[in-house]
Amino acid sequence: MASSPFISLLLLLIISLSSSSFAQPSFRPKALVLPVTKDQTTLQYTTVINQRTPLVPASVVFDLGGRNLWVDCDRGYVSSTYRSPRCRSAVCSRAGSDGCSQCFSPPRPGCNNNTCSGTPDNTVTRTATSGEIAADEVSIQSTNGSNPGRIVQIPDLVFVCGATFLLQGLASGTVGMAGMGRHNIGLPSQFAAAFSFNRKFAVCLTSGRGVAFFGNGPYVFLPGIPISTVATTPLLINPVSTASAFPSGEKSSEYFIGVTAIKIDEKTVPINATLLKIDGTTGVGGTKISTVNPYTVLETSIYNAFTSAYAREAAGRNITRVASVAPFGACFSTENIGVTRLGYAVPEIQLVLHNNDVVWRIFGANSMVSVSDDVICLGFVNGGVNARTSVVIGGYQLEDNLIEFDLASNRFGFSSTLLGRRTNCANFNFTSTA
Ligand SMILES: *[C@@H]1O[C@H](CO)[C@@H](O)[C@H](O)[C@H]1NC(C)=O
Ligand SMILES: *[C@@H]1O[C@H](CO)[C@@H](O)[C@H](O)[C@H]1NC(C)=O
Ligand SMILES: *[C@@H]1O[C@H](CO)[C@@H](O)[C@H](O)[C@H]1NC(C)=O
Ligand SMILES: *[C@@H]1O[C@H](CO)[C@@H](O)[C@H](O)[C@H]1NC(C)=O
Ligand SMILES: *[C@@H]1O[C@H](CO)[C@@H](O)[C@H](O)[C@H]1NC(C)=O
Repeated sequence: MASSPFISLLLLLIISLSSSSFAQPSFRPKALVLPVTKDQTTLQYTTVINQRTPLVPASVVFDLGGRNLWVDCDRGYVSSTYRSPRCRSAVCSRAGSDGCSQCFSPPRPGCNNNTCSGTPDNTVTRTATSGEIAADEVSIQSTNGSNPGRIVQIPDLVFVCGATFLLQGLASGTVGMAGMGRHNIGLPSQFAAAFSFNRKFAVCLTSGRGVAFFGNGPYVFLPGIPISTVATTPLLINPVSTASAFPSGEKSSEYFIGVTAIKIDEKTVPINATLLKIDGTTGVGGTKISTVNPYTVLETSIYNAFTSAYAREAAGRNITRVASVAPFGACFSTENIGVTRLGYAVPEIQLVLHNNDVVWRIFGANSMVSVSDDVICLGFVNGGVNARTSVVIGGYQLEDNLIEFDLASNRFGFSSTLLGRRTNCANFNFTSTA
């Protein structure tokens, strides 16, 4: 009996020796996966970032063009692995921050001396503030393309501390925003750097739970259908940041593409071509892709030309226009409209990209929003006469279309609607095989 503590100690030693000598070589994922769920109230898309020690599943708004991850550090941020890099360190410069900050309250996450600061940005309400640049541990699921697999850790994922008031306007239960934009500290770049995989990610949004993949494909959806992009177009850089607040001279972290014409049933909508280009000095104009706009937003003159052309085309098909229902400006009775696998059989919208053969086609499922039993509306909204960006392709138009961003080769690819391919973005199998 007296020897039992010794025996257990010995056993412990043997167990720890054997587990270390047989430990698997560290696992390096080729890709990571995150769920992306639509919030039915705000129509925002949210994801969950497992952060901190002990781990907290932080629900955050999925912001495709956002510069970085930011979370509320003022309320309930507890973590033994929270770190704030010292000002003028390499991390601060990677985050685009020079200078040193001070905090005149007791130290806590978000409040330390000699750290550097960033500008957490609520891109929904366009409100930004200043906050400490920080790093903490994040756990995320790897994937082989078909299912989530082993969980992997990133010990020092860089983010920016936000404040509680900055959460106003975000989906209920969220504590910040996950920026997927093109910046050194955007999540796609940090994920790629952590595991040395390609700086590439793909997003498949849907009205329920969709998915985002980081790294290389395949992208496989039930019942076992691998999805690839059918067309690509260059990603364009807007030399002037489109964020609410930003370090001077910083370029936009949002994803711009070159829409050169908009057609309805192959007929070109007459629009001022200047508006479709990004002005190199002011950064005004052009077309970006956004997950914080629920519907595509068009500058007023484009919007007016587009809705009248659409209504004309619909009238030609005996589709009856009815009173508008805000925020939409063109609504129709469903009376004479058939339904196909691609949604209502309505005039097709074509976004012509860098050349006439590369066309993003938008069918009924992505163009028409059902507002009542017998009324559907064209899911595009008026962005005003001084719109900073002329065309903002929003969430509804992106759903059930796998879109891919290759940051190394600056290409944007899309699968086109999956609805004709007997699957959709809700069909990723989230059952872990780890
Ligand atoms: C930062 O330094 C100032 C001045 O020395 C001090 O008053 C303050 O308490 C310090 N703040 C923190 C968070 O340590
Ligand atoms: C991923 O792993 C699962 C479980 O091992 C397997 O069934 C599936 O075929 C794999 N998918 C790919 C694309 O390798
Ligand atoms: C086209 O838009 C540009 C930029 O807003 C403007 O300067 C120009 O006058 C417009 N051209 C026409 C023909 O309306
Ligand atoms: C539209 O309705 C009119 C009158 O009901 C009919 O003559 C015409 O053939 C219809 N056109 C189409 C395209 O269905
Ligand atoms: C999802 O993946 C799991 C694990 O590979 C598998 O057991 C299950 O059958 C899959 N679900 C469907 C609907 O195929």
